[in-house]
Amino acid sequence: MCGIVGYVGPRQSRDILISGLARLEYRGYDSAGIAIIDADGGLGMRKRAGKLQVLRDDLAGHPLADGTTGIGHTRWATHGGPTDANAHPHLADDDKLAVIHNGIIENFATLKAELVSEGYEFRSETDTEVAAIMIGREYAASGDLVAAFRATVARFEGAYTLLAMHQDHPGLVVAARRNSPLVIGLGEGENFLGSDVAAFVEHTRNALAIGQDEIVAITPAGVEVTDFRGEPVEVEPFEVTWDSAAAEKGGWSSFMAKEVSEEPEAVANTVLGRIRDGLVDIPELDGLDDVFTGINRIVVIACGTAAYAGQTGKYALEQWARVPVDVELAHEFRYRDPVIGPDTLVVSISQSGETMDTLMAVKYARERGARTLSICNTQGATIPRESDAIVYTHAGPEVAVASTKAFVAQITALYLLALHVARVRGSLPHAEIARHVRELEAVPGKISRILEREQERTTQLARWMADTRSVLFLGRHVGYPIALEGALKLKEISYIHAEGFAAGELKHGPIALIEPGQPVFVIVPSPRESALLHDKVVSNIQEIRARGARVIVIAEEGDAAVLPFADEVLRIPLAGPLFEPLLAVVPLHIFAMGLATAKGLDVDQPRNLAKSVTVE
Ligand code: AGP
Repeated sequence: MCGIVGYVGPRQSRDILISGLARLEYRGYDSAGIAIIDADGGLGMRKRAGKLQVLRDDLAGHPLADGTTGIGHTRWATHGGPTDANAHPHLADDDKLAVIHNGIIENFATLKAELVSEGYEFRSETDTEVAAIMIGREYAASGDLVAAFRATVARFEGAYTLLAMHQDHPGLVVAARRNSPLVIGLGEGENFLGSDVAAFVEHTRNALAIGQDEIVAITPAGVEVTDFRGEPVEVEPFEVTWDSAAAEKGGWSSFMAKEVSEEPEAVANTVLGRIRDGLVDIPELDGLDDVFTGINRIVVIACGTAAYAGQTGKYALEQWARVPVDVELAHEFRYRDPVIGPDTLVVSISQSGETMDTLMAVKYARERGARTLSICNTQGATIPRESDAIVYTHAGPEVAVASTKAFVAQITALYLLALHVARVRGSLPHAEIARHVRELEAVPGKISRILEREQERTTQLARWMADTRSVLFLGRHVGYPIALEGALKLKEISYIHAEGFAAGELKHGPIALIEPGQPVFVIVPSPRESALLHDKVVSNIQEIRARGARVIVIAEEGDAAVLPFADEVLRIPLAGPLFEPLLAVVPLHIFAMGLATAKGLDVDQPRNLAKSVTVE
């Protein structure tokens, strides 16, 4: 997610902004920039694509006049690739106003059309520049930056934290937030703003948390917080307890812990802006209806965890869009002379967008005439650039090698794609599409509930099992790819043998592995929605329990049938059959992280692995 820093006070702001942005690097980004109101009352700005060092080098070579009022930003590209022009800050009102933004303004296209019709010109592809020009337009009318903010945010839909300063008002930085983080740092004669406390923790540990739909104005003398109607708001002060090392990961013990905690918002942000009138309408797929009506087959290609997301998405694509789907490992697909052509849609899934196996398979598919669609978490990456269409996941940067929040975002994107294609092909009644949309929109809250209720118990279970040498994972139907994902997560960060099976496969061989004390995770389908499969999996549990297995069951709240046969039960909220994977995987991510941590291993950088495998 983007990093935000603001400063007003007696000190020169440039180094404060840059060091604040450096402490926010853990959030992941692909461009950086600062703006400063200098001693002569002018407003200077510098921004560059790439890492913070690129900006530092640029500033060293071409110094920016310093000053005591400034804002800084590290951008994780959402609308528009990682370029100098798309980097923040964005300027408006004859370059006298600078704006930075974290989040997604859903209705920016409509607002941009309005501004274009009024003759405004744009220098970037971003939603942020729309906000900057709108604030500038309001400020030009009133001369009051806070009032300009209030008038502007009233028209926004989506999630945003906005900061702005105007050269007419040195010593003033104004901000507004909705569904995106913002905290205030309280200094002695100076004040700070940050997307989290890491931005200013080296200067002050006294902070204020800004609530939903609030506007804050900071000056060296103080802080004023009002709601969107202009009414004063009381905000809660708090003391920052992190040490600086923890601040590098936003206070989390590891990037993986931070990213597992972000799984709810990864799903929510991937859905954001893609629902219209209760149905799925993915703006990036506008104009491609003929592709979706013209295909007779979908081939999903990916590697590792992304492939398991693909296997999960297959159930939805076939059930909802009624298109035959094959899921293939990218590194196998290219070498087996597959039968594909113009009526095949090849959907690649990649968090990094740089996995060479997947990239080469996409290129191969295009050479064979197939249409290609990329599901990717990294704006402007190579695989999306090689594809005919792109559906970005908005999980934010995923730093830990073990993919967690990107996985749930990939499944979410596949479900959105399935419902989008279902609408275009008319394969589902709109009422049913709307019902699935409501289910998808309820998933973030359900994941949050699992994190609140089961995280501690699951972590404790992992500690107890720290010496185990092998864990098996069983799942059925759409729970099968989740069993595979649970096994991969465990083996790749705790280095113990782990294997996932289709529960129905047990009696065809794997049950020979069961011996007394063998830990086995079993993902149990809902008894409400899949009674037949539920009962078969309960039978499987009895089979392995009879042979001494130690059974850890993941089952929906209220499912009592599993209790007599389970040593441990981890509960997930009720959900439709195809939505259970998004919930059942969460305890498995927590378990893998807990066991690797209990073994004293580096959960973020496991041995032998890279975050992006850019070699074949
Ligand atoms: C997942 O935990 C692994 N790190 C790995 O399997 C990963 O999913 C795979 O390499 C694909 O990476 P991508 O999504 O960036 O293409």
